[in-house]
Amino acid sequence: MGKSCWLMLAIFTYLLSFSSGRELNVKVKGDHSSIYNHTLAAVLVEYASAVYMSDLTELFTWTCPRCDGLTKGFEIIELVVDVQHCLQGFVGVAKDLNAIVIAFRGTQEHSIMNWIEDLYWKQLDLKYPGMDNAMVHHGFYYAYHNTTIRPAVLNAVKRAKKLYGDIPIMVTGHSMGGAMAAFCGLDLKVNHEAQNIQVMTFGQPRIGNAAFASCYSKLVPNAIRVINDHDIVPHLPPYYHYFPQKTYHHFPREVWLYNIELESLIYKTEKVCDGTGEDPSCSRSVTATSISDHLVYYGIELMSNAPGTCRFWMDPQVALYSRMDLSGNLVLSRVPATPVIRLNTESDVGGKLS
Ligand SMILES: *[C@@H]1O[C@H](CO)[C@@H](O)[C@H](O)[C@H]1NC(C)=O
Ligand SMILES: *[C@@H]1O[C@H](CO)[C@@H](O)[C@H](O)[C@H]1NC(C)=O
Repeated sequence: MGKSCWLMLAIFTYLLSFSSGRELNVKVKGDHSSIYNHTLAAVLVEYASAVYMSDLTELFTWTCPRCDGLTKGFEIIELVVDVQHCLQGFVGVAKDLNAIVIAFRGTQEHSIMNWIEDLYWKQLDLKYPGMDNAMVHHGFYYAYHNTTIRPAVLNAVKRAKKLYGDIPIMVTGHSMGGAMAAFCGLDLKVNHEAQNIQVMTFGQPRIGNAAFASCYSKLVPNAIRVINDHDIVPHLPPYYHYFPQKTYHHFPREVWLYNIELESLIYKTEKVCDGTGEDPSCSRSVTATSISDHLVYYGIELMSNAPGTCRFWMDPQVALYSRMDLSGNLVLSRVPATPVIRLNTESDVGGKLS
């Protein structure tokens, strides 16, 4: 009897889930398979989500709750935590993609609202070195270029290349992490002669002006910025239509995820936008004020799993793989394909960053 009750409940729940008017139907407009690959986006968003995890042991051994699904089998080469600036990123090898994957975490500010409000006022205040008239925001630029993140990433890429040769490099990140991914992809191309670079960011803010965007698209043609529906962050810092030479300007290419409602059915649609970076018929066609649309992409959560800001945990045995500099910044390194480290789950080393 108990069994049939459960069955009834299961059937009821099943029916309920279909009467709510939601149907997950993914549609990509036009044939853009050479530019945008939905399958790849679904994988990379999982890396952009995993990098938010605060348990360094689980992350380093790729056993975290988000280290499953489409990213299964990933091998981290280097995990870096810049404690001073509250930044986190990793480099590793994805055998199924046959690629090096680099991912950066978004901001860990106490209040995402404050962070978003600040974005309105970011000035184009730094000349991008070696590019005519290209201006960027110093905060985004320095987060990648002037922290422990860059040397750790470059070192890991060098080590990975020694082991695997010149396989493609895929750089990803969400929000502020997307801005860092964008700078990292460019850096690898310009300063390290990496040829096969794919940049894919989720909910990335604008980072530079039109001259920067134009150079960017030439140097990193395989760059995709995914924008989810009414996500507010990609609309910041603002684009001033009347001052195209002075304003922030996105680099191409946007892919806009939005919903079409037809007779109470909701169709998820993906639009591959034009090559300008500021396609008026994509996300710019709507008033975007949503924070919740910023935090979930392709059904994957893109935010920290731990309350509070900049916390991390580490097992003493994993700590053996780490180096700490004088400011407390951490780099954990390993050689891929070494046996998985045996974990002693008791006696964790905890930490609270700044
Ligand atoms: C899209 O990406 C997936 C995963 O990397 C890959 O297997 C597939 O071949 C790609 N498709 C195209 C058309 O490039
Ligand atoms: C770059 O980083 C160093 C060391 O953290 C710091 O002293 C310096 O002020 C930074 N430069 C800028 C322009 O932020």
